[in-house]
Amino acid sequence: MAKLQHRYVCQTCGAVTARWGGRCDACGEWNSIVEEIPREAAPGGLGKASGKSSSRRTAQIEFVGLEGPTLREPRRPSGLAEFDRVCGGGLVPGSAVLIGGDPGVGKSTLLIQVAAALGAPGSVGPPIAYISGEEAVEQLRLRAHRLGLGAARVELAAATSVRDIMASLDTAEPPPAVVVDSVQTLYVDTLESAPGTVTQVRASAQELIRLAKRRGFALLLVGHVTKDGQLAGPKVLEHMVDTVLTFEGERGHPFRILRASKNRYGPTDEIGVFEMGDDGLREVANPSALFLAERRGNVAGTAVFAGIEGTRPVLVEIQALASPSPLATPRRAVVGWDTARLAMVLAVLEARCGLVFTGKEVYLNVAGGLRIGEPAADLAVAAALISAVSDEPVPAGTVVFGEIGLSGEVRAVGRSEARLKEAAKLGFERAISPIRRGSASEQRDKGRNKAGNGDRKKAAHPGLEIQEIAHLNDLIEILAPQAAQRIARRAARAAADVD
Ligand code: TYD
Ligand code: MG
Repeated sequence: MAKLQHRYVCQTCGAVTARWGGRCDACGEWNSIVEEIPREAAPGGLGKASGKSSSRRTAQIEFVGLEGPTLREPRRPSGLAEFDRVCGGGLVPGSAVLIGGDPGVGKSTLLIQVAAALGAPGSVGPPIAYISGEEAVEQLRLRAHRLGLGAARVELAAATSVRDIMASLDTAEPPPAVVVDSVQTLYVDTLESAPGTVTQVRASAQELIRLAKRRGFALLLVGHVTKDGQLAGPKVLEHMVDTVLTFEGERGHPFRILRASKNRYGPTDEIGVFEMGDDGLREVANPSALFLAERRGNVAGTAVFAGIEGTRPVLVEIQALASPSPLATPRRAVVGWDTARLAMVLAVLEARCGLVFTGKEVYLNVAGGLRIGEPAADLAVAAALISAVSDEPVPAGTVVFGEIGLSGEVRAVGRSEARLKEAAKLGFERAISPIRRGSASEQRDKGRNKAGNGDRKKAAHPGLEIQEIAHLNDLIEILAPQAAQRIARRAARAAADVD
């Protein structure tokens, strides 16, 4: 038998090394390597089929066609519309969902509400199971009562042993959904490593997922996130579960966003928006109103971006600050957007439009704690930057969207009509957008190209004046005409000097 060897496992990425180190070579994380005792020696492979041992008889696996019965019942919507939307319409029986998030963001609150919604009074079938390894039953009950969920058909338990949990759930009629909060508190008693280590997290999740598939209940696993935004022991979980949801929220902001980053049964670009209040999480059906609620008048350096999150238009404020810097390399800091993308927009503004940011620190913030991934935010970021550096507020009631190319051209983006419609709905009066296909400006640009394709003509949005622009220079003209003149004069002088 092979000697039992100690091994060292990075708790962030799961990399295994033979020796302890202060820093993981695989992911670069410091102090994340922990000694773990492996469950068993490495598998020795199948070896030669001897045929002697009756316990190792080979069986043929059976292949079946795509046609034939499927066992899954339809999804089970919880009734919490924002949660169901992110899951792709509800929980799929036999599936495993991992919900990650920072400690304190509201995962337990969300899941007790989901459990209560699934087991609403009058629902059929066995009650929903809520197993917590973090809180006592009284604590859970107190919270449920405070949230007004006392009547829901939810059974609470405090447990951490996977063996006990499995034994209780492995019945002919298991609960239709089981919440386990959190996977980091679970342990499998055949392993010597501590709960929360990669080995334990992986083994515990594997056992529960297998049972969920076999018994056909939906498994909701909570996973904590470590400081750098990775679920602890979690990279190892992401491939095992069917759906990975992340619950995000900035400290000090009431709203929380539930996002799907992997979903075998639905879309991954949907978000659910909630607001944390004294009575738990409230669903936010109109996120734009929420994100713009704290907008203070018209201050230089802010612009409203008409974005799309999932299938929904969301208006959000982008804030920029440009301040003189004593540093040789001024700071550029971004919250809620991509740093590389900011660098690109700054470079295009400098190189193509002559707007100078040299010697200035630039800070960019997406208000309200939303994270934007769309390139369509480029133009709104540029608007905020132009406004910040010229100290001229963007005209009141204006939304901006569009992608910027390296030559300063403004490119069309998807779902323009939905963005404009949302802006009109929220009372905005003006939109600065790329040239929309089929719109009047494009017809003009194309000169005599009299396209009679009326179906491509874009809808007008009552009350909304739409300014379509083709280049970043047009944006500077609109937002900061004086700066545009200064730039033109400077360019003329430079040209004269060269002559
Ligand atoms: P919790 O669900 O325990 O977070 P997690 O499970 O992700 O660690 O939520 C904890 C925070 O939510 C806590 O700081 C208090 C706040 N909270 C409210 O503001 N209102 C409420 O009704 C509840 C239940 C929690
Ligand atoms: Mg919790």
